[in-house]
Amino acid sequence: MKILLAGGAGYIGSHTAVALLEAGHEVVVVDNYCNSCAESIKRVEELTGKSVVSYEADVKDKAKMLEIFQANSIDCVIHFAGLKAVGESVQKPILYYRNNIDTTLTLLECMAETGVHNFVFSSSATVYGDSSNNPPYEESMERGKCSNPYGWTKSMMEQILQDAAVANKELSVVLLRYFNPIGAHPSGRIGEDPQGIPNNLMPYIAQVAVGRRDKLTIFGDDYPTPDGTCRRDYIHVMDLAAGHLQAVEFAVQNKGTEIFNLGTGTPYSVLEIVRAFENSNGIKVPFEFGPRRAGDLPAFWADASKAREVLGWRTTYTLEDMCKDTWNWQKNNPQGYRK
Ligand code: NAD
Ligand code: UD1
Repeated sequence: MKILLAGGAGYIGSHTAVALLEAGHEVVVVDNYCNSCAESIKRVEELTGKSVVSYEADVKDKAKMLEIFQANSIDCVIHFAGLKAVGESVQKPILYYRNNIDTTLTLLECMAETGVHNFVFSSSATVYGDSSNNPPYEESMERGKCSNPYGWTKSMMEQILQDAAVANKELSVVLLRYFNPIGAHPSGRIGEDPQGIPNNLMPYIAQVAVGRRDKLTIFGDDYPTPDGTCRRDYIHVMDLAAGHLQAVEFAVQNKGTEIFNLGTGTPYSVLEIVRAFENSNGIKVPFEFGPRRAGDLPAFWADASKAREVLGWRTTYTLEDMCKDTWNWQKNNPQGYRK
């Protein structure tokens, strides 16, 4: 199949590109590089020995996107192209609603106009909301109340996609709710390359380990959890990428909307992650405790049984793999993709 990856130069998109290419599919990447660079695609080509058709374009640009759809016979779209910094979304909600929702609408319009029927979407566990659902989260739970505009864009886009699939019986929509993706390709050639101060835990730990930051601040030590720090369901990005391959195959064989959690089903605390990183890599990660971060929940993790049963997908990488592969990427690319 030929699969269009909107936002395919980014962290999850580049790893998914490797998984799809290795499975024999072709990929077409569209990215405006607002949070990535073309180097990641070069490295995907180097890792797989295959070539990738890529366009530098804004996915909101309908005229340009139509040209791309018309020039390539697309079988399935995977939509990664989104802004994802939670704190920034509180400061710049209009930017987030415009970018995330417009990209989705533009893709749906282009698909309708060129006869493409399969859509896989990067959603997030954030749609389960702040208090209405108790973990482990199951796909059958109602979406909850999000604590920030980023989360609301995901929740709204899920609704838009579900409505589109109700109206168009030809359409197949797979909503993938990611838990906490970390790690990198075991080669250390592609990985997560956040711009500025990392918002997320693992990239921050990696930058402390490589000496770019002095110490980690752990947000809160008084949560109602065994060690007082928050618990999350961390998943290796290679397992996540493999989930997309199975989602694409599911999409082309089914119609309507299906939702899948992509997580391991096992939560770890912030302290456990710090200790695992230290032990896996033989390196110290200085940290201090700070106040809680607004909007954080004490603990959540996936019920991962639906993806296992329906897609036949299971995670294979351990927490140690996640820590080793993160460090392998970071130490070989201390400034990310920039030379
Ligand atoms: P990322 O920022 O590395 O990748 C997103 C890519 O989209 C970037 O390459 C960026 O340049 C591109 N992009 C953004 N807006 C665009 C536009 N208008 N036109 C063209 N390209 C555009 O992020 P990621 O971690 O790879 O996440 C991919 C998707 O998964 C996002 O939608 C994100 O919200 C979602 N997600 C990520 C996580 C996570 O922890 N990384 C968790 C849940 C959901
Ligand atoms: C966050 C977002 C979520 C988004 C996901 C992936 C919030 C509230 N949620 O999830 O919507 O889908 O990222 O982008 O922002 N931590 C520290 N110190 C740090 C960084 C993080 O202690 O410097 C802690 C956090 O408090 C949290 C855990 O580490 O308990 C994981 O944080 P993070 O990696 O940001 O992921 P989430 O908050 O789960």
